[in-house]
Amino acid sequence: MKLGVNIDHVATIRNARGGKHPSPIKAAEIAEKSGANSIVVHLREDRRHIKEKDIQYIIKNIKIPLQLEIAPTKFMFNYAINNNIKKVCIVPEKRKELTTEGGLDLNKNFKFLSTNLPKLINKGIEVSLFVDPIPDNIVIVKKLGVKAIEIHTGSYANSQNRKNNIHLKKIKNITKIALNNQIRVSAGHGLNFDNVKNIIKITGIEELNIGHFIIGEAIFYGLENVILKMLNLMKTKKK
Ligand code: PXP
Repeated sequence: MKLGVNIDHVATIRNARGGKHPSPIKAAEIAEKSGANSIVVHLREDRRHIKEKDIQYIIKNIKIPLQLEIAPTKFMFNYAINNNIKKVCIVPEKRKELTTEGGLDLNKNFKFLSTNLPKLINKGIEVSLFVDPIPDNIVIVKKLGVKAIEIHTGSYANSQNRKNNIHLKKIKNITKIALNNQIRVSAGHGLNFDNVKNIIKITGIEELNIGHFIIGEAIFYGLENVILKMLNLMKTKKK
């Protein structure tokens, strides 16, 4: 199982003062050096954290893959097409939310996605859709011709009861259904050292994308140490 490190919140802290420090680019360099498998950034409509300049630098200087999270809008799709982006995850976006609060509403976005996703796919851009663990979503993902999903793990991460957890069951179930339909699976949102333990036991999830916890924990223990600890945890898959 691979680890994508989302560095958005390094930019959040930088932007709080409008200067250059702390640098998300330095964070990307440290993540790469520490063994992260990819860098994840979300270019939000309001540019509250990552900005275009950060993405340009990462594309030029970081060797591990970049996954760009973008909202289903014409501007963002054109941005991906015109800026040599190799991998995108389509995520929902609301101006007033603090974070990406749930998966994409595929029914609501079906028309836009069915018209515009081929523009990305035909350019050779790898596309995944950020979805809640609801089996019906797989039917629509297939209709859209998309070959990968990222499961939104927020409901599981926010829930208290870790044993017999209904949200965990849903994640396991949608992973199975996706794999049976030749759809690749990654997962993320709200994961930390504790709740990730159940997720890493699920066979078939290829990659976890983790941001807020890693960056927050890095304040106390350093980014490299936190990434190494997460990578080690992901290797052990303890019962
Ligand atoms: N994956 C996707 C598609 C996301 O949008 C986010 C956060 O916005 C994450 C993973 C990481 O979530 P977190 O910051 O809670 O670890």
